[in-house]
Amino acid sequence: MSKKGTYYVTTPIYYPSAKLHIGHTYTTVAADVLARFKRFTGYDVKFLTGTDEHGEKIQKAAQEKGVTPQQHVDEIVSDIKEIWKSMEISYDVFLRTTGEDHKKAVQNIFQKLYDQGDIYKSSYEGWYCTPCESFWTETQLKEDKGCPDCGRPAHLAKEEAYFFKLSQYQDRLIQYFEDHPEICYPESRKNEMLSNFLRPGLEDLCVSRTSFDWGIQVPFDPKHVIYVWFDAVCNYITTLGYGSDNKEEYDKYWPANVHIVGKEIVRFHTIIWPAILMALGEPLPKMVYGHGWILFGSDKMSKSKGNIVYPEPLIERYGIDALKYFLLREFTFGHDGNYTNRVFLNRLNSDLSNDLGNLVSRSIAMIEKYNDGIVPEAKAEGEFDQNLREVVTSAAEKVEEAIDKLQFHDGLEGIWKIIRRVNKYIDETTPWILAKDEENKATLDTVMYNLADSIRIISVLIKPFMEATTKKIWTQLGAEGEVGLQWKDTMEFGKLPAGTKVKKGEALFPRLDVEKEVEALEKINEEYLQQINGGKKEEEAIEIEPKEEITIDDFSKLELRAVEIIKAEKHPKADRLLVLQVQVGQEVRQVVSGIAEHYKPEDLVGKTVILVANLKPVKLRGVESRGMILAAANDEKLVLGTLDEKIPTGTLIS
Ligand code: MSP
Repeated sequence: MSKKGTYYVTTPIYYPSAKLHIGHTYTTVAADVLARFKRFTGYDVKFLTGTDEHGEKIQKAAQEKGVTPQQHVDEIVSDIKEIWKSMEISYDVFLRTTGEDHKKAVQNIFQKLYDQGDIYKSSYEGWYCTPCESFWTETQLKEDKGCPDCGRPAHLAKEEAYFFKLSQYQDRLIQYFEDHPEICYPESRKNEMLSNFLRPGLEDLCVSRTSFDWGIQVPFDPKHVIYVWFDAVCNYITTLGYGSDNKEEYDKYWPANVHIVGKEIVRFHTIIWPAILMALGEPLPKMVYGHGWILFGSDKMSKSKGNIVYPEPLIERYGIDALKYFLLREFTFGHDGNYTNRVFLNRLNSDLSNDLGNLVSRSIAMIEKYNDGIVPEAKAEGEFDQNLREVVTSAAEKVEEAIDKLQFHDGLEGIWKIIRRVNKYIDETTPWILAKDEENKATLDTVMYNLADSIRIISVLIKPFMEATTKKIWTQLGAEGEVGLQWKDTMEFGKLPAGTKVKKGEALFPRLDVEKEVEALEKINEEYLQQINGGKKEEEAIEIEPKEEITIDDFSKLELRAVEIIKAEKHPKADRLLVLQVQVGQEVRQVVSGIAEHYKPEDLVGKTVILVANLKPVKLRGVESRGMILAAANDEKLVLGTLDEKIPTGTLIS
């Protein structure tokens, strides 16, 4: 075991129901940075992620696709693993709840709780939200019977079921919240759990289902499957061998140091999961952190609305480090934040290109210019040196403190403060003026050394966040091996050996033309969305406002006929109107139609469309119209109703 001990960090296990977007990436990137930081600072780390593969939602999605649930999840899970690989996520274990070991362990846990009376059989009637796989009481529902978590409609469901005696743990949980505030961070979420759930009173939790079968069977009553959230939360310990014959890893890593979860699943992690652990007689996780959501223009991300951002195009164009940096710097962990391409690009330009990129490139360029690329010895002491050293070496402690509290944005801000300090040092010491006079050589050398060593410290500080950038800086700095490149070395100045040869490389983060990039990104994201939707852009479901019912007699008053457009021209007085001549059997009719913004006259000739033939004739801007052509239209688009095969004109449509 390492000197510092163990550190166990987990992400939620993701539903393999749809492609993961940057909201999911956010949770995982945060856990990844934490894991990297802890490894770097000497801990024996276990970093767990995985997939939550059971439940009705998954079963339905598979049915819709016409494949088995297992085939469905296998396909998406391999896609999820690909994303994590392309983002260099450093997880140690990827748990799938369909794995045999996990299933057996969950059954053992369920059996144990049943044997000791914590799980009992009864029947359940309540409001069920299928997308969230959650039962709710009537009082918990929103006004319109919507699910309190996702807002979608819940429906009444009744089934024979097993229950977990959650209510019995209420007092112990409240006490635990009081004694261990870190069981639910940030503070605001803890208060929410106490006032919305714990204090009003807990009801026993329904932990089995019979309405579908894609789940882990209750070992002693196989027509029931175990509730997917019970199955899912257990992953945190089944991964370590709990519930099997070999729980060596469990003894080593449990309790987890932190479960990182999104705000909407805090309840499962700070109430249900701790109660299960209490029933098992096991210790509770040391911290559960509920972060906020990344919103898209103040809306929840949604594929159907097209307001969703996937990590792949961003990584491909700007690199993994840019995305990781942005996610953890822009948003305050714990709060919601808004994503826009512009905010992303501005952040890249100001922090990565201007502050960090510039510092490295101009410092290396100066060492090349003033000292043939050799880092000189610091021989003189200048006016600004002492302060520079103090500021630069004091960052690590604050960064460490911030990361321990999962305040990644503060940690990064702490590092960027020193980056800006070092940039200011260049302005203060004006090396280009020093270089004009040989007498200043010792001072100039000192400035060059201080710049190089500051960059060494910065490169080490950013390592848990941006490993690839760190490595690029080391190459440019000529920093080799382990000397001066450990976390503790950031607290000491002077670790870069004088005589090191630097080498200018490519710009770390080339400056972006934000306007151009905003345009490019919009196009790229749209194309990407279309590509993953199989070429079709998914459309938002339209809310239907029904009109008054009509009888078949009402309908039969309409005379709808197939007609062919034989001539089309612009209306002489109105830009929005076209004047059409349509063939209706033997007759040619003139119809004026408001479709000029959507169709060119020449594209219409030859189309068979639908005419309301018995509409009273009217004059539209002085031109007579005898009938109306049918079209589907919304604010942006208009499409003519056509017939999918040729049929003689004049044929009645009914
Ligand atoms: N399967 C459950 C977790 C079980 S853990 C024992 C689940 N899966 S999920 O795929 O729906 O969500 C996983 C995580 O992604 C959640 O923490 C959720 O908050 C996070 N995010 C999903 N969309 C998000 C944003 N738009 N922004 C930030 N995080 C979001 O819940």
